[in-house]
Amino acid sequence: MSKRTNVNITTEEAKKQDNIITELAYHIKDKGLTFYIGTFGCQMNALDSEKIEGILVKIGYIKTENEKEADFLIYNTCCVRENAELKIYGKLGALKHRKKKNPNFMIALCGCMMQQDIVLETLKKSYKFVDIIFGTFNIYKLPELLQARIETGEHIIDIWETHEDIVEDLPSIRKHEFKSCVNIMYGCNNFCTYCIVPYVRGRERSRQMEDIYLQVKNLVAEGVKEIMLLGQNVNSYGKNLEDGATFAHLLEKIATIEGLKRIRFMTSHPKDFSDELIECITKHDNICNSIHLPFQSGSTSILKQMNRGYTKEDYLALVNKIKKSIPNVTLTTDIIVGFPGETDKDFSDTIDVVKQVKYLSAFTFIYSKRTGTPAATMENQIDEKTIKVRFNELVNTVDNISSEFMHAQIGQEYEVLLEDTSKNDLDMLSGRTDTGILVHVKAPINFIGEFVKVKIISAKTHYLIAERR
Ligand code: SAH
Ligand code: SF4
Ligand code: F3S
Repeated sequence: MSKRTNVNITTEEAKKQDNIITELAYHIKDKGLTFYIGTFGCQMNALDSEKIEGILVKIGYIKTENEKEADFLIYNTCCVRENAELKIYGKLGALKHRKKKNPNFMIALCGCMMQQDIVLETLKKSYKFVDIIFGTFNIYKLPELLQARIETGEHIIDIWETHEDIVEDLPSIRKHEFKSCVNIMYGCNNFCTYCIVPYVRGRERSRQMEDIYLQVKNLVAEGVKEIMLLGQNVNSYGKNLEDGATFAHLLEKIATIEGLKRIRFMTSHPKDFSDELIECITKHDNICNSIHLPFQSGSTSILKQMNRGYTKEDYLALVNKIKKSIPNVTLTTDIIVGFPGETDKDFSDTIDVVKQVKYLSAFTFIYSKRTGTPAATMENQIDEKTIKVRFNELVNTVDNISSEFMHAQIGQEYEVLLEDTSKNDLDMLSGRTDTGILVHVKAPINFIGEFVKVKIISAKTHYLIAERR
């Protein structure tokens, strides 16, 4: 079967769901029913939630920011760490009574957490009041599931073990007018031994280059200035496609789209960050000079246990090559503390990498045991007290470096894309430089979505304060 035939099949599926949306809209549109989506986890889930929102708005539900009052509550869940799951169970516990108060009230659960048998068993046993449960592979079926719930009155559980075809052309509602995320691939084949993502998001599959290109072109025509290309490991984009496309090819093509000012991408896996990719970033001004390059641990032996596919030296060599080739590049990363068997020496290697690379910022995580992953059954799980001490040292090291970098920017001039109002000061807007540095600057609210030239006047650990020039 050729790839294009696949796309035809999936377009048919989108049409089928669209017909159901029309039928549902007939019943729902005048009822004034509201919905609220709680999104947990990474940008993949955020993007999936935009699709869910697109479907619900098309049906005639009205979006509300009021979680407590919504008639239809959807939680798009994450399970990458245990805490993420506990949050959902906590929220569910408080919801049962709402059904009595509001006969229209419905709850749907979806996302990564639902792809685990153990979670489904718990929900079936202790949270029977949940109306609809679906997973990560069948979001586009939501209209069909909702129709089944409404017509039969039954509780609907539809979880697929794996994906079918990639369904294009779903309705979607973007959070911002001026920037957007775009999936370039789904799933992951890396099986890092601590990570649940490959089990809940399935095998790696890339979208056709042409489909991505057309989507980005349309977004730019609608006013989007910044695109974030998303995948669990963007560097392996194209591996399952027949046309030999690579991530660098894709970037090349997208960088030529007129009016597209900024291209970002995440996540890059250090094991296959190609020279071709570095060259591509240096060649195009609109590909941002900021790279998220998770290293997870600085210890070669822990990296091996993690199945990461590189050593400490490989990683540092790659960073040096990137820094040499891309002037002003900023790097960000993810780090796990307390992986089974981590010794003081292993941890000091992690600190050493942080000090050598000097990240702009780092997401630091305490290792969380995920049932079903190889690391969960490894011996030498690290005790909580040791982990806490290491974690604090790591956070301090990361913050000191970040603060030093931020203070060195005072007096510098940057172009910033203003994205939002500042959380701390309503007169200020916040935005980012090409290199991803967070900047607060005084500007009227209608400047959101605009580029402004600024001069840095002061610095904090995680952001800069600037004035317009
Ligand atoms: N695909 C991306 C990241 C996906 S998950 C990558 O490979 O970089 C985001 C981050 O969560 C990971 O980078 C890792 O640092 C963290 N993470 C994943 N599983 C974890 C676990 N079991 N415990 C703690 N942190 C974890
Ligand atoms: Fe998880 Fe590793 Fe895949 Fe990232 S590359 S999603 S950490 S298995
Ligand atoms: Fe993302 Fe969490 Fe799923 S990190 S892929 S939402 S498990």
